[in-house]
Amino acid sequence: MYICLCQGVTDRDITDLLQQGGVGMRQLRQQLKVGSQCGRCTCTVRQMVNSFYQIA
Ligand code: FES
Repeated sequence: MYICLCQGVTDRDITDLLQQGGVGMRQLRQQLKVGSQCGRCTCTVRQMVNSFYQIA
């Protein structure tokens, strides 16, 4: 499923990067460019990061 339509980034792309370890919002922004245009995906990406690291 596409999470960032502007950059064509899927939930799988994000999960794959998170599974490499030591990856947070900054790295996702730098490497996948999520949130770099309209910004609508930022909240969803942040929720994915928090969920991955089980941050409430
Ligand atoms: Fe991600 Fe627009 S949907 S920057």
